[in-house]
Amino acid sequence: MTQENITSVLVEKRTFSPSEDFVSQANLNKKEYERLKSKAETDFEGFWSELAEKNIHWFKKWDKVYQWNEPFSKWFTHGKTNVSYNCLDRHLKERANKTALIWIGENGDKRKITYGELHREVCKFSNVLLSLGVKESDRIVIYMPLIPEAVVSMLACTRIGAVHSVVFGGFSKEAILSRINDAKAKIVITSDGGYRRGEIVPLKNNVDEALKKCNSVEKVIVVQRTKNKIEMKDRRDLWYHELLSSSSEKNDAEKLDSEHPLFILYTSGTTGKPKGILHTTAGYILWATLTTKWVFDIKDSDVYWCTADIGWITGHTYVVYGPLSCGATVLLYEGAPNYPDWGIFWKIIDENKVNIFYTAPTAIRAFMKAGDEWIKKYKLTSLRLLGTVGEPINPKAWLWYHSNIGKEKCPIVDTWWQTETGGILISPLPGITAIKAGSATFPLPGIFAEVVDEKGNKTKPEEDGFLVIKKPWPSMIRTIYGDDVRYKETYWSRFKNEPAMGRAGEPAKREAVYFTGDGARVDKDNYFWLLGRVDDVLKVSGHLLSTMEVESCLVNYPLVAEAAVVGYPHEIKGNAICAFVVLKNDVTARSDSDEAAPSGIVEDLKNYVAKAIGPIAKPDQIRFTETLPKTRSGKIMRRLLRDIASGKTTSGDTTTLEDASVLEKLRTNE
Ligand code: WTA
Repeated sequence: MTQENITSVLVEKRTFSPSEDFVSQANLNKKEYERLKSKAETDFEGFWSELAEKNIHWFKKWDKVYQWNEPFSKWFTHGKTNVSYNCLDRHLKERANKTALIWIGENGDKRKITYGELHREVCKFSNVLLSLGVKESDRIVIYMPLIPEAVVSMLACTRIGAVHSVVFGGFSKEAILSRINDAKAKIVITSDGGYRRGEIVPLKNNVDEALKKCNSVEKVIVVQRTKNKIEMKDRRDLWYHELLSSSSEKNDAEKLDSEHPLFILYTSGTTGKPKGILHTTAGYILWATLTTKWVFDIKDSDVYWCTADIGWITGHTYVVYGPLSCGATVLLYEGAPNYPDWGIFWKIIDENKVNIFYTAPTAIRAFMKAGDEWIKKYKLTSLRLLGTVGEPINPKAWLWYHSNIGKEKCPIVDTWWQTETGGILISPLPGITAIKAGSATFPLPGIFAEVVDEKGNKTKPEEDGFLVIKKPWPSMIRTIYGDDVRYKETYWSRFKNEPAMGRAGEPAKREAVYFTGDGARVDKDNYFWLLGRVDDVLKVSGHLLSTMEVESCLVNYPLVAEAAVVGYPHEIKGNAICAFVVLKNDVTARSDSDEAAPSGIVEDLKNYVAKAIGPIAKPDQIRFTETLPKTRSGKIMRRLLRDIASGKTTSGDTTTLEDASVLEKLRTNE
């Protein structure tokens, strides 16, 4: 990596070009990139057809590359394939003895699992699921720590055509309950517990609590991890290791339709109810495979580590499906970045000679704050490529990552994508792109991204606008599980394409385009700069949260009458949560530190949210107020609250405010 034009960290024009060494060995070179890009523009179907044929194993070829019935798409129709087959069976000839997973437990346990072994275990577990009566399209909830059995469970579901819904192990019993009920899951796979900073998270107990309020679940399969005492309910609860010991190793992957549902993953929306994002088989695995090859430049010799949990989309696409489909060696680490100390990630990289490392800006900022002495103890010479995902990375953190972790020689791929997009859509290509710190650079070949204004017209260079995707792509969301109307409203109702030329006499037609919910800007060199969410969804420590979800939780608290939740900038978390709370009439309190507050209410409220949603949703600040700023029609003006929470003077129009004195009162409460 050579650094050009580095004069000041404030100048945006600096670019970082890949070194000649990197360029000469990259999976995707400039010539091929240009060919792919222009083919995607001139022959969209031919482009996808060529890639699908070359990169995926098919039991039966498709009839049509894609069908578009706005806003529903189908890809590679009537083709037959299997995700588990693509991730395992097709590697057995050449890679049966190659390490597929290097797993490191928080307590230092270590296991290496070859492709041959992983295939055997997945086959056995697939047979277990079949013997329990699981049928194609049945939903299975996976609520587990980051252990190999979680990966086995995901792959076994996809092998037999069951639909998994992975619930992040840090979520509460209420979160599991709502997800089990929404998907009407038949089976839950969990473990007795998981380790988190030396403590045991009681996963199985949480499942037991959730199941008291749901009746779709027939069996609970429990992996033994922590050996803490748990209750096993007769006839419902079964031990994973016991089931596996008597299960056959022979299992042929189901030949599934390209559009067979693959998984549901819940993400936060602008209402309190999480959205079950549905992905399907062929299109998803194609794009997961391609982007892993192109963006992470995966080689057979690489040890690849993406630090995401499997409870998030990054864990699905870039811990499990993409890298295994490429036959890579994947490192999995169960623990937190600061336990037993802030050096643990760097120790793991040195000890396992990790070559590719993919993490989130929030983690990078936390490492910066922890101090460089943790890094100086380690060499980090094995690294050749770095990545980030989850939120915009500020140039300061980018530069820190570049020099302290990448030692100024590793390209950094800042990858923009979403749970809904299934895989990376905007990112540098490490052997091609001249990178600007803080920009996700350009859409990948086949992806037609654009920044538009309120009216849906393309913005001028340097102008802020909304990020839309103008053409469908194979790994796109198919719908919100069980709610086509919400799917249409959320993603396809806000912007339309420029009108296509209508034939003589026909009105010109405007087609809906996919709205990402993100603000963005394109600079004069066509680089994309992401500006964060434009709706009421917040990224806190890299995790999406809906302000509504936190609000509806707060108003469930017996003393609370009303609440409004906003984000404000936070050095490490990206955003922190500030909750403005109106207490019921007979209770008075003002601010976080107010001595008049009923004793302990601030802590109680914070813990209440943490318990109901999960520790990541815990508000950083609670501010009490007598009223909230509202428009005459009764809408809370969150824009004003955001200004107050971030200590800014209010800019913009306040004339729609019903009671102008509210702002003054809120300020004096600070
Ligand atoms: C944000 C995570 C800027 C964005 C894969 C998006 C980013 C949301 C980046 C999706 C990036 C993700 N630069 N912003 N490189 N990557 N985002 O569904 O706001 O958890 O809409 O998927 O994260 O979050 P999700």
